[in-house]
Amino acid sequence: MQLGRRDFLRSWAALPVLIGKSARAESSEPLRVRASRHNRIYGAAVCTEQLLSDVEYRKVIGREAGILVAEGETKRNVLQPQRNVFNFSRTDAILKFAQDNDQLMRGHTLVWHRANPKWLNEEIVVTRDEKLLTGYIEAIVGRYRGQLNSWDVVNEAIEPDDGLVSGLRQQSIWFRALGESYIETAFHCARAADPDASLYYNEANLEGDVAWSERRRRATLKLLERLISKNVPIDALGIQGHLKAYRVKYSDEVFSRFLDDVASLGLRILITEFDVADAGGPEDRVQRDADVASLTHRYLDVAFSKPSVIGCLTWGITDKYSWLSRDEHYRWPDGQSSRGLPFDQEFKRKPMWDAMVSAYDKTPI
Ligand code: XIL
Repeated sequence: MQLGRRDFLRSWAALPVLIGKSARAESSEPLRVRASRHNRIYGAAVCTEQLLSDVEYRKVIGREAGILVAEGETKRNVLQPQRNVFNFSRTDAILKFAQDNDQLMRGHTLVWHRANPKWLNEEIVVTRDEKLLTGYIEAIVGRYRGQLNSWDVVNEAIEPDDGLVSGLRQQSIWFRALGESYIETAFHCARAADPDASLYYNEANLEGDVAWSERRRRATLKLLERLISKNVPIDALGIQGHLKAYRVKYSDEVFSRFLDDVASLGLRILITEFDVADAGGPEDRVQRDADVASLTHRYLDVAFSKPSVIGCLTWGITDKYSWLSRDEHYRWPDGQSSRGLPFDQEFKRKPMWDAMVSAYDKTPI
């Protein structure tokens, strides 16, 4: 198994940990420090526009995150809007910010059934030209070779509801054009383009204590087993971790067992897109914040009890810009903001932040 050169930050093991009730004071140590002291990473998804325009946001991201990922700017519709037009400027801006702030950066995502440019959606199903897959990976991974520590090579290839025995997403343009082999082709191509980057398969809805989530876990494990048995260069599983506090039942036991199953395949694990949707919860915000924090604590406690889990990135950092407030599946019908990230609208640390710090601090060194 090959790990990215920067997957682990140096240990801060010798420093004393001071947490108590006042852990949340803005002056106390940021998440990135708490995480790295325990040989784990903390990071966040960011948007270029906000990094460039919102000073307060920039400050919080620079202070708290040890690794960045672009929420949208490294998706194909942004990077290759036309067949012969690449646009790297937004990704470059994030990368520069990360380098200036001594942060790592990961890429998300090379191959997905969503966020593709229109020209590609039209062309691929007609031509079935594998070059439309490999040419892109070579161009993008090659351009950032040595600068991104990891890539989500393939995202969300599983959808048992599509009806295939394998549980693969039949409706994906990639599956329709190339069949299952698109997955291994993508990994081989990414490895060749940057041999040092860690390569991830990234998947959603893997922790629910419900039958449809169990089907997703089973299909994901089978896919990973197939890839490994064919010597496909895959290093890690990315578990998105978009929890729905009041809508999808979560169980520590189920999550724990799944993490063990993945680790037994020899793969590392990263929680790549953590947040907690609070839609459907009580009116009382204090209660909701407490519920979100408590679920965060349970989830990360289980995750960080496993040596295979290297860390967690939240999908955004402040409720001010959370996709949960925008997305039609998650947003509150009355238009109020979701409260599923560690910082509130005013960039103040919330109980969720305390829960994350405490989970990192409890991690065995
Ligand atoms: C989301 C972004 O947060 C939104 O702004 C965008 O409109 C849609 O995509 N799983 C993923 C992410 O892998 O890329 C998605 O990001 C959220 C779900």
